[in-house]
Amino acid sequence: MLTVSAPGKLMLLGEHAVVYGYPCLVTAVSERLEVSIEEKEAPGIEIVAPQVKDTRFVDAAITAVKKRIKFLEEKGLKITTRSPFSGVYGFGSSSAVTVATLFGLFKFFGREISRRELFDLAFKTVLDVQRVGSGFDVAAAIYGGTILYGKGGQPLEEVELSTKDVTLVVGYSGVKSNTVAIVNEVAKKRKEYPERVERIFKAIADFVGKARKSIADEDWVSLGKFMNFNQDYLRDLGVSTEKLEALIYAAKGAGALGAKLSGAGGGDCMIALVGKNSINDVEAAIVSAGGEVVRVAVNESGVS
Ligand code: MEV
Repeated sequence: MLTVSAPGKLMLLGEHAVVYGYPCLVTAVSERLEVSIEEKEAPGIEIVAPQVKDTRFVDAAITAVKKRIKFLEEKGLKITTRSPFSGVYGFGSSSAVTVATLFGLFKFFGREISRRELFDLAFKTVLDVQRVGSGFDVAAAIYGGTILYGKGGQPLEEVELSTKDVTLVVGYSGVKSNTVAIVNEVAKKRKEYPERVERIFKAIADFVGKARKSIADEDWVSLGKFMNFNQDYLRDLGVSTEKLEALIYAAKGAGALGAKLSGAGGGDCMIALVGKNSINDVEAAIVSAGGEVVRVAVNESGVS
């Protein structure tokens, strides 16, 4: 049996704008999605995916590999996925399962695939299923760490995000967001008000660049400020929710240096940048505001 795993992700800054080619900052998190592959006697492919909400991504990955590798059809394969995060938090389980299934199948059949080729294949597979997306989550699952990502597959830069003095506190809003629907809503808004929405994207991209520098300088006060500005623009775009705002407000009130939603919005999680001394206060504030604290580490390694 061969087992591979790929990490989930958290968007630090730049969501939505990245769909239109602007850069974003993303970090891979310690919630990993595992895929095991083994031969079985009966022919055909059996998928056992108890926690994956949507096996279309596994099916699409198998179809993509079938076009490239001759399968041992007579023997059959069993593909089992295991995920501690099961799609609820918006940590990118669809991309992680796509990357892990593709990578696992290539390894299982002893075939080499470069990270670049894996990105192209995984991104195409994700787009075949869900039609929209920037591929930042696919890049995080493959490359791991923290990256400055611009549409097109290569990380523009690997970023050293130190967690010596600060950490990210993650609060789940209790509402599962529908990324595709929200990306489509933003697209509609952009069509209706192109200048206004493009202005928002440009401002977000500017904060991504500034945040990149703050991370390099370990200037956490500035990074927190840029996260807050990013959140203001996301609110303006209409993708924040009352619940996310309540958690963000609570986190900032309890000493977070900055806080914002992470991902598409409409639910899922918020993140707060927190000095090591304020972790307990910020976590307690998020819980009091009705959120669920999800403990994850950042800078996790890519698919392996
Ligand atoms: C969703 O997690 C982030 C978006 O920017 C979509 C994407 O980049 O694929 C809204």
